Amino acid sequence: MSENPVALAVREALKKVPVPGGGNLANYPGLSEIIVTPSALALAISVEAGMEGAFGPVRAAATEAAEEVAEGRKVLVSLTADNAPAGAGKPGAPPPQAAPSAPRPVEGIRNIIMVASGKGGVGKSTCSVNLALALKDKGLKVGVLDADLYGPSIPKLLGIEGKPAFRDEKLFLPFEAFGLKTMSIGPMVEADQAVVWRGPMASSALRQLLRETEWGELDVLIIDLPPGTGDIQISLGQSVAVAGAVIVSTPQDLALIDARRAVNMFKRMKVPVLGLIENMSYFVAPDTGVRYDIFGHGGARDEAEKLGIPFLGEVPLHMAIREQSDAGAPVVFAHPDSAEAQAFSRIASAMLEAVPDLSEGHL
Ligand SMILES: Nc1ncnc2c1ncn2[C@@H]1O[C@H](COP(=O)(O)OP(=O)(O)O)[C@@H](O)[C@H]1O
Ligand SMILES: [Mg+2]
Repeated sequence: MSENPVALAVREALKKVPVPGGGNLANYPGLSEIIVTPSALALAISVEAGMEGAFGPVRAAATEAAEEVAEGRKVLVSLTADNAPAGAGKPGAPPPQAAPSAPRPVEGIRNIIMVASGKGGVGKSTCSVNLALALKDKGLKVGVLDADLYGPSIPKLLGIEGKPAFRDEKLFLPFEAFGLKTMSIGPMVEADQAVVWRGPMASSALRQLLRETEWGELDVLIIDLPPGTGDIQISLGQSVAVAGAVIVSTPQDLALIDARRAVNMFKRMKVPVLGLIENMSYFVAPDTGVRYDIFGHGGARDEAEKLGIPFLGEVPLHMAIREQSDAGAPVVFAHPDSAEAQAFSRIASAMLEAVPDLSEGHL
């Protein structure tokens, strides 16, 4: 496949960027493919562990060189290091590198809560958006970051279209919808390119998106993670100071097995697990009011108990939740007094209680 003309121009520009050890970045074997989307341009530089510092200026120079030919696109240059330090294990090798730097907070954001699930389609994005709105209704300043590179759906859920704006080419300006500040990896990635963004490059681009968005002052940022327990979850969990993770599951055994895996991953990373949410918990027939436990309701509550984590609450399966999602006006906004919206509101209160810094003055 022939390279995109902008990508070619970037490659040309990178010839002017020298790399440690000689040569230039365009010929450097650790240079990734150059990805060009309508609003962004991304590339990754992979270096040996321990060389990140030496490559810092290369990253800066590459960003500058790429910006000159990027035709207004936001440039994301990621630096990724191999896991094994160079020379590790060899006799006489220097002592291992210090542990990776401790997770850092994001400026202006008091608390970050990640919403995760073991598998896709369980309602993670639906919960992220509605819980964000429920928290906002309790008086908090709330943002939502859509980190689900493989199925970004927050723009649709919040009825947002188009590319994000930048300020000074450096900072993304978040969208505003229903009183939430929001940003999505979606517009950065064209559908057919999600595959290329796998692995360290995707993680690094997301970390950059998180830190280079002008969030302003937020009480809480909700991050809608991709499903599963991959690189992105691990890299965010290790590099960003988070207040905790919330796991969404349906009541079926299979979904719960995957949810357990997610819980264990966060525990290993020492990310507090705020609790489990059971979505599509039961169905109340609108005509008769009869309640049906179609997926065997209650599985998540039992599972939470077994795992020793809080159970945050259940969300019914309800047509309005799906319809309002499709219409780009989430149910908590569109029908705040409905039983469904109340379910989200109760879960939001349970989340506040689980994060003492958030509870103050908002319960
Ligand atoms: N409680 C619910 N009641 C009815 N439909 C729901 C509910 N939760 C999610 N859905 C629908 O299920 C589908 C998957 O939800 P989504 O939030 O996109 O899942 P995920 O982000 O986990 O992949 C969407 O069509 C959504 O509207
Ligand atoms: Mg989703």
